[in-house]
Amino acid sequence: ALQELSQIDNPDELEQWRVRILGRRGELTGILRGLAQLDLEERRQVGALGNQAKAALEEGLEKRGRDISEARLAQVADLERIDVTLPGRPVATGRLHPTTQVLREITDAFVAMGFSIVEGPEVEWDHYNFEMLNIPQGHPARDMWNTLWVDYVNEEGQRPMLLRTHTSPMQARVMESVQPPVRVIVPGKCYRYEATDATHEWHFYQVEGLAVDEGITFADLKGTLYEFARRLFGTERKVRFRCDYFPFVEPGVDMSIDCFSCEGGSGWIEIMGAGMVHPRVLAGVGYDPEKYTGFAFGLGPERIAMLKYGIDDIRHFYSNDLRFLRQF
Ligand code: PHE
Repeated sequence: ALQELSQIDNPDELEQWRVRILGRRGELTGILRGLAQLDLEERRQVGALGNQAKAALEEGLEKRGRDISEARLAQVADLERIDVTLPGRPVATGRLHPTTQVLREITDAFVAMGFSIVEGPEVEWDHYNFEMLNIPQGHPARDMWNTLWVDYVNEEGQRPMLLRTHTSPMQARVMESVQPPVRVIVPGKCYRYEATDATHEWHFYQVEGLAVDEGITFADLKGTLYEFARRLFGTERKVRFRCDYFPFVEPGVDMSIDCFSCEGGSGWIEIMGAGMVHPRVLAGVGYDPEKYTGFAFGLGPERIAMLKYGIDDIRHFYSNDLRFLRQF
């Protein structure tokens, strides 16, 4: 029986073997039942041998069962193995929108420099969009952002809710929720109550950046943004910083990229505002402005895509014309 057992390689045959040898009407069971006819001395001897044989057969059965199932598992693992390193096959389901492609390039560049990506609400409070950014009610700088207000009036008779005009409100939201060091970028959609033309849309994307820590200087701002420009536009493209004013930074700058083919022939196109985070903004979120400094920037991905690909009108991005989209 043990020899037979060693030939068996599947669970069905194993079960048949068990029934035939060890089952209730099996061969060994029959032999052991026959003991009753023997006399006492023989019964004792044969009985002991019978039990030994039974134990050996049961043990053999168990081991064979284990071997068979292990071999099966190994076979399944081999047959159903998935090669995760195999490259996927392209499926003709379309492609990413040029804005999405550029957003990913931009975020990749900053992630490589240690920034994390966070996102925030498009419907925002006046509190974060303006107040926390050192732009109080009635401040003339509010005119810089033509605002779409949400038709909701609070108990004081004010409209405190709006469609965010920039991604900067996330500066305060992030700083309220974490302690320095802060290094985040915020891609997201913004809205302005504005007439559209070749370089202006009433909705568009921005990517905000914020870094706050002890000892951050304007040199860090320049180094980070130069490196960003190099990654996106290559080492040949020129970058220019000029003084600019935003109430939430001091000093404030704008950064341009050389563009001698650009319309108007100015030679430069502005792609972002930036500056050192204003001490009042830091104090507003409970950071000690004596201890911490930081820089912030806000850039326009569609402008960057226009520069990279020579697109002449920002309105193409939202017209969903396949003749435009298929080119990317
Ligand atoms: N939020 C500003 C804008 O929309 C850009 C900016 C961001 C400027 C961060 C400075 C610092 O115009």
